[in-house]
Formats: sequence, structure tokens, C-alpha cells
Amino acid sequence: MKAQILELLKAENGIVSGETLSAALGISRVSIWKHIQKLREVGYTIQSFPTGYQLKRSPDTPFPWEFPGRESTLFYFHEVSSTMDIAKDLARKGCPDFTIVVAGRQKKGRGRLNRVWRSAPGGLYFTLVLRPQMPIIFSSRVSFLASMTLARVLREMFEIEAKIKWPNDILVNELKISGMLAEMEAEADQLHFINIGIGINVNNDPSLSEPKASSLKKLLGMKISRKDLLLQFLDEFEAQMTNADLGNVVSEWKRYTITLNRQVRIVTHQEASEGIAVDVDNNGALVLKMADGSLKKIRYGDCFHQDE
Ligand code: BTN
Repeated sequence: MKAQILELLKAENGIVSGETLSAALGISRVSIWKHIQKLREVGYTIQSFPTGYQLKRSPDTPFPWEFPGRESTLFYFHEVSSTMDIAKDLARKGCPDFTIVVAGRQKKGRGRLNRVWRSAPGGLYFTLVLRPQMPIIFSSRVSFLASMTLARVLREMFEIEAKIKWPNDILVNELKISGMLAEMEAEADQLHFINIGIGINVNNDPSLSEPKASSLKKLLGMKISRKDLLLQFLDEFEAQMTNADLGNVVSEWKRYTITLNRQVRIVTHQEASEGIAVDVDNNGALVLKMADGSLKKIRYGDCFHQDE
């Protein structure tokens, strides 16, 4: 109902009478008033006039009703510990493919390799529950598709040179704008779900604690709509998940990366390796050319470009 009321108010771009709303939606004028009150409580500025209501301002909050067609699969929370935990819970309980959990802030945001992901208000923090039908060995291709789609969306929407640092960080001018975390559950070779968590520095300022990070707001010099960015990303990523040939994803992804042909240091919990990043194989493993000329494949790790 909120979606419909907002749609009518937005379409008119002027004053809409309670009578019109109540006739269009088939509910009483008192019910309309109650919904309007609820919308006001969560941040919408809706002015009352003797002749009706006018929407003056919508908050930049990704409420489910702002995503037509996704109302029953998108969950928004003002604050959570981590969207990964909520998404895992939903996935285990059998939620549908492409369920989305979004949070305004996270108290225990998680990064890759057990790092903390600071999640101050203003950033965009979400996890997607995906249930692709594929053998586990190919599952990393899903994250590569996600980072490539996000880089493309950022380029299209803001005309910025979004690049990817292996495996899935998005950088602009060598500064990190977004990070991605994948968690999956499987049994034998049967993938139950793969959850992709994405944190995007939109209107928050991460640079105080992370000098090598920036935000879209800082880069573009203006506030950016998290709602629009999420809407665009979800639509493009869902279309890609349905249509893209996942076998080709990594080769396409290479067009966006700035890791190849550079001297890098890859750090895991176990070891650190240094060499020249010469390739990424079809399942996302980085191929390093070591000082002695040998090749080493690395499946995961933190990547540091050494020639910055
Ligand atoms: C990284 O670069 O280390 C990955 C960061 C992933 C952060 C996102 S924010 C939404 C989701 N919830 C989390 O706790 N982490 C991911």
C-alpha cells in the first residue's frame, strides 16, 4: 500500500486529494491518513493541505516499497550486527533466490579474512542470497560477475573510472570504494546458497580510519542516492545472473581489473607471496610469476599493489 500511495503522490507531483487516493486504492480516507502518518514517521515529508497531500521529500532509505516488484524479497533494517548473519539465517530457512538484506548501519560489519568492515551511516551495506544451479568449483564466478556489474553500474551512473583490484574490490583513483564478501553453504557438490555481501562507501567518509579508501560523495563532491544505486545494481545484476554466460565472466572481468601486469603481494592467514600478476584463471585464481620464473596460482588472499 505504501508503494502505491507514494507512486500516486510522485506521479502527480502536486497535491493529491485524500478522495483520489482512497478511490484509486480502494481503502478509506482514514486508512490513507494512517499510511501517510507511517510514511512521515520513517522520514517522508508529506505536507497536508485542505485539498489533499503533497510529497515534498523522500528519505534516501532503501525501504522495500521503494523497489517495485521486490517488496517481498528485500528486507531493510536500520541497524544490524551484520547483513551476512541475517542473510545466512534467511537462506537456511529457505528464502527465495535473490533475497536482499540491506542495513543502514552495521555494528559488526565483516570484511574478508576476518577483518572488520566499518559500517557508518551513509554507506550502502547489503547481502544477496543467491541460489545458482552450478557445481561448487564455479561458485567464485558469481562474485566476479557481481564486482564487474558494480564497476559497470558505477561507470554508467557517475562517469567515474571504476576499476577492480583482484579479487573483487572496486577502486577509483586507486582508492577503495567498495568491498565484497562471499559466504556459501553446500553439501557434497550441491550448492545450497551463495551469499554475496557488498559494502559501498557512498555518503560515509571511510578515509579517516582507512587512508586508502574514499567514498562516492568525496569523489563526486555531492551526496549520492543509495536508493538509486541499489536499484540500478540489483536490476543489472539480476539480469546478468539470468542471461550471462558465467563461463566467460572472468575473461570479461579482466577488462576492468588494474591488478594484472603489476608487481603484487598477496597475503593470506598462512603466507605471503610476491610476484607479477600475469593472469586470472577461469575460476578467479590469480596466477603469479615468481622471482624464479615459476608460476603460482593463488585462490584467495589480500592483494597489495606494490608499485602504487
Ligand atoms: C572486504 O573488502 O573486506 C569485504 C567487505 C564486505 C562488506 C559487506 S557490507 C555488507 C555485508 N555485511 C558484512 O558484514 N559485510 C558485507
